[in-house]
Amino acid sequence: MLTLKQISKTYGNQEVLEQISFDLEEKEFVSIIGKSGVGKTTLLSIMAGLVSSDSGKVVFSNSDITHYSEEQLAEFRLKNIGIVFQDFKLIPSLSVYDNIYLAIYPRKDIDKDEKNKRILDLIDQVGLSGKENKCVDNLSGGEKQRVAIARSLVNRPKLVLADEPTGNLDEATSDKIMSLFESLHKKYSTTFIVVTHEKDIAKKTQKVYQLSKGMLSQMKGDKNE
Ligand SMILES: Nc1ncnc2c1ncn2[C@@H]1O[C@H](COP(=O)(O)OP(=O)(O)OP(=O)(O)O)[C@@H](O)[C@H]1O
Ligand SMILES: [Mg+2]
Repeated sequence: MLTLKQISKTYGNQEVLEQISFDLEEKEFVSIIGKSGVGKTTLLSIMAGLVSSDSGKVVFSNSDITHYSEEQLAEFRLKNIGIVFQDFKLIPSLSVYDNIYLAIYPRKDIDKDEKNKRILDLIDQVGLSGKENKCVDNLSGGEKQRVAIARSLVNRPKLVLADEPTGNLDEATSDKIMSLFESLHKKYSTTFIVVTHEKDIAKKTQKVYQLSKGMLSQMKGDKNE
């Protein structure tokens, strides 16, 4: 469903990604590990069409998105991709409900009741029932993370890119979030790429890739799959 062809990215004179090629099949559940500063967030941002690469191609479900306009990219993300940002990117002055609502609000093909149902259902699934109307600014780090996770899933995207989705969560909540990902993976055939530094999380995924010195190599899983 997603193919990267020889993606390179340089910031100033710092070469972060060097000719990375990557193939993700539908329904895969993979993790990417790597040291801090190695380029994991940059790589996810290129996959989502949020950052452009210097060279190479990004192909999603047979569409080459490399040269899409901003407008085309926004439409593409809305329908296909859910993102959990490492720094959440929530709107602090808005409530839990409204932060999630903003992500689904532009969808004309989903009616109001269905939107409301999905939002409340996800709030429940990430364990924030009762906090719907709480201002995000007043939430703990782990709670903000759970709002970001709920928001990433509300459009039932084909692909979820999650950057350290359980980084600030305790073990029990992390397990719950990973179980939620696993159940969505089964129920809606959602494809997941999770960036993580936690070995236990990586262990739960079907394939593990390591990003190191600008290169991505597979550590675990059937390479011919
Ligand atoms: N917009 C930018 N402008 C200049 N340099 C950048 C920019 N974004 C990232 N970098 C640099 O590129 C490198 C990779 O950054 P990136 O955020 O992708 O790393 P990461 O693997 O996600 O790290 P972490 O695990 O700490 O989140 C870093 O050295 C960073 O300073
Ligand atoms: Mg990062």
